[in-house]
Amino acid sequence: MPTKIVLGAQWGDEGKAKVVDYLTEDADIVVRYQGGANAGHTVVVGDTKFVFHMIPAGIMHADKICVVGNGVVLDPEVMIDEIEELASKGISSEGRLFLSENAHVVMPYHKVLDKAGEESQGEARLGTTGRGIGPCYRDKVERIHGLRVMDLLDTDEFKDKLAAIIATKNKLLTQIYGQAPLDADEIITCYCAYAERLRRYVTDTSALLNKAIDAGKHVLFEGAQGTLLDIDHGTYPYVTSSNTTAGGACTGTGIGPTRIDEVVGVTKAYTTRVGNGPFPTELLGEEGERLRELGQEFGATTGRPRRCGWFDAPILRRAAQLNGLTSIALTRVDVLDTLDTLKVCVAYQCDGELIEEFPSNPRTLARCQPVYEEMEGWCSPTTQARRLDDLPDKARSYVDRIAQLSGVPVSIVSVGPERAATISV
Ligand code: IMP
Repeated sequence: MPTKIVLGAQWGDEGKAKVVDYLTEDADIVVRYQGGANAGHTVVVGDTKFVFHMIPAGIMHADKICVVGNGVVLDPEVMIDEIEELASKGISSEGRLFLSENAHVVMPYHKVLDKAGEESQGEARLGTTGRGIGPCYRDKVERIHGLRVMDLLDTDEFKDKLAAIIATKNKLLTQIYGQAPLDADEIITCYCAYAERLRRYVTDTSALLNKAIDAGKHVLFEGAQGTLLDIDHGTYPYVTSSNTTAGGACTGTGIGPTRIDEVVGVTKAYTTRVGNGPFPTELLGEEGERLRELGQEFGATTGRPRRCGWFDAPILRRAAQLNGLTSIALTRVDVLDTLDTLKVCVAYQCDGELIEEFPSNPRTLARCQPVYEEMEGWCSPTTQARRLDDLPDKARSYVDRIAQLSGVPVSIVSVGPERAATISV
């Protein structure tokens, strides 16, 4: 396997972790490159379910190296908890988990500001995960208050910087948001302990990855969230604060674009979204409720019910364009097993016009009505299918139609959460 990016082609929660876990068999290294503990990557192995927020899902394979790149915002507490939980289940991260010294660190004030900022917006709130992601990336870009992993490891530097930062953040918290101030000493004690725990994993991960690629190692880049949550190309402002599209894998790890061989877009056989923002194929009422129950569509990070709707081809075509997709991994096909009729959105009707392209202006998107094509459901279980030929004919037609509508071949079909429930095409 050459270098491969696996990313979400919709609004996140497409089942990336399952696909990454499956593809990790052929990889040497798995890398996270953006986002932070807002991601919830679920892997099911046997009877055990693991949900990762910080560490790449590839850690489940004992002989693989896992890297958290510079583009990720690190929540040290979450990372340490994950390392310990894995250890308690007999999975060691020692000597095979690496963390970029350039990654920015999520601090307690980022989380408080994330929630306070959302509350202050009332109905206009974005519906963030409250994990401090936006405020941490804001500090990174602003360049005054950002703290990187390398700062955390340099105790004196960290104490000095934090004392100055806390003074400003407390003003913001108390005077603008009416929140209680935070105690700098408490934060210092806590974060210095995190630093000591994480020190052994910290390195220059860009150099590590480039040397590994030079040596012919197979690297898998594990995207978080999804294409339409990209800060530049998503449904702004209802997006996350990082580049979730393929380019983010380069900037978020320090490798050049010429070193990427394949880009796999993970897409559900239907569509979901958490948080606010336009969603043309959303099913409100009973139909949406049914899909949510069938797919158990509740957030892995926040537990929030996900908004559910039919498959949307303009979204996938847009994702193919933005990411240069070389193939699609179509997930959760089994969730549709009991439905008599399926709808596929092939285009939109907007202001009296038929449009086939996903509009980049979210206000236009909000006015789009889906144009549906109906397909007969297969009404039989698919979870045991291991080859395309094992799928019922109507399920096969559904898969083929999605490939045709997006113009990208399907390389993987997932028919259940377990590793084994996967068809490699
Ligand atoms: P934030 O990333 O917490 O700032 O949230 C911004 C938007 O991205 C909100 O709509 C979140 O629901 C959404 N979001 C963030 N992470 C994920 C994810 O892993 N899956 C799906 N949606 C996400």
